[in-house]
Amino acid sequence: MTPPKFDFWQDHSKTYLEMACQTERIGCMQNPDGYGKRKGECGDTIEMFINVRDDYIQAVSFMINGCINTVACANTAALLAEGKTVAQAWEISVENIIAYLETLPSQDSHCAELAVGALYMALSDYIRMKKEPWKRIYKK
Ligand code: FES
Repeated sequence: MTPPKFDFWQDHSKTYLEMACQTERIGCMQNPDGYGKRKGECGDTIEMFINVRDDYIQAVSFMINGCINTVACANTAALLAEGKTVAQAWEISVENIIAYLETLPSQDSHCAELAVGALYMALSDYIRMKKEPWKRIYKK
């Protein structure tokens, strides 16, 4: 007897479907306070942009070249980071993303690693630019 086929719309959690389908955060941010780009071994790429005021992350946007699981993971990383301080955002983990989504396929946990990695790179960039603000002028 063959196991029942996974039905994308019926069998995924509500949070997974929301994060996979939401498009509000997709796009480049003009003059971000932090920027990170990460490419996975699979070839997928995430660029993450953060806007920070008084050390609180106000907004996160991202650009993706990858699969729907990667979109779900990037949206979740962004959602979890918004409203947090930069220090608190460093606490966001791959496990947090997987737990939030509930139904991310286990063989695609590397999509969560990619999203968290891009977020960490944006946070590092923010910290670097805060220490050396004159470098911002020379970016691009
Ligand atoms: Fe490569 Fe999603 S399949 S990060």
